[in-house]
Amino acid sequence: MIIKIFKNDEFASRAAADIIIAQINGKPNSVLGLPTGGTPVKTYQTLINACNEGRVSFKNVKTFNLDEYIGLHPTHEQSYRNFMNTNLFNHIDIVMENTHLPSEENAANYDEMINAAGGLDLQVLGIGGNGHIAFNEPGGAFDSLTHKQAIAEATIRDNARFFDGDIDKVPKFAVTLGIKGIMNARKIILLAFGKGKTQAIYDTVRGQVTTNVPSSILQLHPNCTLLIDEAAAGML
Ligand code: GLP
Repeated sequence: MIIKIFKNDEFASRAAADIIIAQINGKPNSVLGLPTGGTPVKTYQTLINACNEGRVSFKNVKTFNLDEYIGLHPTHEQSYRNFMNTNLFNHIDIVMENTHLPSEENAANYDEMINAAGGLDLQVLGIGGNGHIAFNEPGGAFDSLTHKQAIAEATIRDNARFFDGDIDKVPKFAVTLGIKGIMNARKIILLAFGKGKTQAIYDTVRGQVTTNVPSSILQLHPNCTLLIDEAAAGML
């Protein structure tokens, strides 16, 4: 694992965008794995600016998102489809048909769809305060493929901030790429900012590889870089 610590999320997000831009400029038909959440928003803004300035084009890029809530219509404000359209896809030159999110309908085929596209060249990850990646919650198997997942209590509490602070409004299930699908990516970058991620980052980097901390499996990936701010690096 390569660990890069930045003064703040601004610098880390710019570095993440630079990696994504270099990936696409080196291979214009790259296949990207993308996350949602608060963490990647600044990275996506930087990508939008770069695209508008002609420094990168997504015309031939394919994307596969990590996860999606079950029970929210794609047009729901908090669906991950809506998040991706609003925060990235609507503002870049990507072909909408080349953007994919998992769903109950395509879950059984999602890994095959990724393989058919050539496999993930670059997987971008956030991380949950409990070490979850995508919606792979603690205790899940390391050899999992795309599957339906009950969202952990802690994650429901964390994500309630996007649902008027009301945990009852947060969906209780999601469809998520599995750990095996994530580990199959040729290259991974993980972003983590703020004190809420300090323990998870410590466990990811210094802890044992254990299903209790899903992100700890990244220690075994041959090409994984962590881009984190000083707060998230606080225990390293
Ligand atoms: C969510 C998503 C993850 C995301 C994580 C962190 O529940 N399923 O893919 O990485 O939690 O979110 P945030 O970036 O808002 O802290």
